[in-house]
Amino acid sequence: MKVKIVDLTLRDGHQSLLATRMRTRDMLPILETFDSSGIYCFEVWGGATFDSCHRFLNENPWERLREIRKRVKNARISMLLRGQNLVGYKHYPDDVVVKFVEKTAEYGLDIFRIFDALNDVRNLVTSIKTAKRCGAHVQGTICYTISPVHTIEKYVEIANQLAELEVDSICLKDMAGLLSPKMAYELVRTLKKEVGLPVDVHSHYTSGMASMALLKAVEAGAEMIDTCMSPLSMGTSHPPTESMVYALEELGYETGVDLDVLLEVRDYFMKIREKYAGYLNPLSTIPDANVLVYQIPGGMFSNLIAQLKEQNALDRLPDVLNEVPRVREELGYVPLVTPTSQIVGVQAVLNVLTGGRYKVIPKETRDLVRGMYGRTPAPVKEEILRKVLGDEKPIECRPADLLEPEFEKRKAELEKMGIEPTDENVLIYALFPQTGLQFLKGELEEEPFPTATSFGDIEGEFEVEYEGSVYSVKVKPA
Ligand code: CO
Repeated sequence: MKVKIVDLTLRDGHQSLLATRMRTRDMLPILETFDSSGIYCFEVWGGATFDSCHRFLNENPWERLREIRKRVKNARISMLLRGQNLVGYKHYPDDVVVKFVEKTAEYGLDIFRIFDALNDVRNLVTSIKTAKRCGAHVQGTICYTISPVHTIEKYVEIANQLAELEVDSICLKDMAGLLSPKMAYELVRTLKKEVGLPVDVHSHYTSGMASMALLKAVEAGAEMIDTCMSPLSMGTSHPPTESMVYALEELGYETGVDLDVLLEVRDYFMKIREKYAGYLNPLSTIPDANVLVYQIPGGMFSNLIAQLKEQNALDRLPDVLNEVPRVREELGYVPLVTPTSQIVGVQAVLNVLTGGRYKVIPKETRDLVRGMYGRTPAPVKEEILRKVLGDEKPIECRPADLLEPEFEKRKAELEKMGIEPTDENVLIYALFPQTGLQFLKGELEEEPFPTATSFGDIEGEFEVEYEGSVYSVKVKPA
């Protein structure tokens, strides 16, 4: 049996471990060698890279895509697209979504992996249909999380909705590293039986289970697995490409990947890891069992600590950890992934620190309750709905139905400012009106490489009591 290897080093790998800061000039020299290794697909674009590229590196993200495409001739290249949010953090109008997907397909991107944080398939329709029309391979994505409403039946229902949109494959996306080997096996087996489409499994190493989960997924019939080259693997990233290839080949699966070539690629990325060591938070390189206990993703956990520290209230961490699942339940069991992880986290901190639950309600919580992000997996609790919205009713429609077309307007604005209104430029501006415009005006600079000690803002050692057990949490700077 064949298993296709999808290597994420150039997107999720450095997004997970190096704050998405790998420069294009550090990717290009190894691409031709990497491409000769037999890897099925490289994920190279999308997610946070578009934002990070222009904002911190003063690089044109479109240029990166073009340069990569020129050098990858055997493998496919793919991107992660956040549905109606594209590569940003809010819903964009349909005309912007259509233009963005068309332009990306035109540059030769082969596989669009498209997801919505709430698994609200309505938020995926425009991008999926456009990518299909452009002849691309579309991977419809299921965000995996754990809650009483996230049953196997529920995931099958989502996968069937994606199949109706004629996606070419299904990606099971475990962004928090919650997918256990047992669940991976059962879920993939059921998806194969009930939906039948090829399945690609994406599991972060956060809790230390990802290699096991991928292996069990393959045994259950998954055709594709996501990995990262060893220097950027493990921790909050993914299982190492080399180890998975070796293990699978020995078990009789054909990956088509040449390990000798990968060793050369590994040498290269070892140097990159050294060069970018200042971005690497040592905490994100080791498994974090907190995820298993609290089901709080690692990034969110350190965010909570940072927020409490800022308020001089680290001693309230146990209360906040108890508050997070409560808020999540009240807000309809949203998956803890960007942006809903931030919304739940901030609300939980406010509920604890302001001395009254939902006494302070940020705009983001209000928007989530109003349905502005889409339909929550379970309904928002009636009591919270009334507290947050008063007499106002949540919207029933797809959020983007409320948005006016924007592309031509943005184009005219650029023209007026004397900036060449090419599709590329208009999209950079439409997606990121502030930093995108600064970039186009040439006002941004590439940030300097940080030194290895600059991640010292979160530190401390404290005990946390949770459901009757005491856990010692140590957080130390690099
Ligand atoms: Co990921």
